[in-house]
Amino acid sequence: MAKLHFIDEDITLEIQVGQNILEIALDNSFDLDHACGGVCACSTCHVKVREGFDLFPEAEEEEEDQLDNARDVDLTSRLACQCVLQEDTDQVIEIEVPFWNVNLVQEGPDAAHEAH
Ligand code: FES
Repeated sequence: MAKLHFIDEDITLEIQVGQNILEIALDNSFDLDHACGGVCACSTCHVKVREGFDLFPEAEEEEEDQLDNARDVDLTSRLACQCVLQEDTDQVIEIEVPFWNVNLVQEGPDAAHEAH
């Protein structure tokens, strides 16, 4: 069974084929932001998949559009709720949660202005 390792928090969780990163985090009381509830309508569940990137399907246009709203995006950036494990593997998937995670739903647009 594959494992998810959240690098900065040093937490390792098991993930099965068909499960996504967000649901694994929440099922294990790992508090990953998820303002839209996992329906690809925000960017708050932005994570960086440092190892095991190819174990997930390619991002669709809708996800890419949401990632355009996230800060600190790079080539390993994904939305955790859209990362559904595709294959059974013993690999450890390394996940980084970006420090600057925009959450306009929780903080409101005024908070975003104050941050500038
Ligand atoms: S929780 Fe909103 S896009 Fe993942």
